Amino acid sequence: MERTLVLIKPDAVKRQLTSKILSRFEDKGLKIVGLKLMQLSKEKAMEHYAEHKKKPFFDNLVSFITSGPIVAIVLEGKDAVTVVRTMMGTTNPRDAAPGTIRGDFAMDLGRNVIHGSDSVYSAEREIKIFFEEDEVLDYERVI
Ligand code: CMP
Repeated sequence: MERTLVLIKPDAVKRQLTSKILSRFEDKGLKIVGLKLMQLSKEKAMEHYAEHKKKPFFDNLVSFITSGPIVAIVLEGKDAVTVVRTMMGTTNPRDAAPGTIRGDFAMDLGRNVIHGSDSVYSAEREIKIFFEEDEVLDYERVI
């Protein structure tokens, strides 16, 4: 079964969108196997966004994601990476389709509410940044 990392970003936590976003994933049938409210350190933020290190917006990205608490989530399900990416909508929320999370809740590319791993490889790398092995739990979901 595939796993993916989702971050509810500081803008969404402050706007009290956490439960709305979580319930979309639960309603869809994805299983929450890891969940924590946390303040990300600058070091971990830089590690998470390492692929963007040379981009002009890197410093803003790091300062935004560390500007307040985030909710880190590990979701499990068949094709979880792709399913979550589809539910999130495009990176730029102004282009995101209505019905997607970014399409419904955001207007600003830099404050786009949510992050989701872009591949199975990224998911494996990212989950290790946010969760210890014993913080991702195995249990049976009842439908
Ligand atoms: P995320 O899915 O967290 O991954 C990288 C983030 O970089 C992305 O969401 C956007 O929030 C942000 N991003 C991408 N392009 C730009 C840009 N041109 N300017 C500012 N932020 C950007």
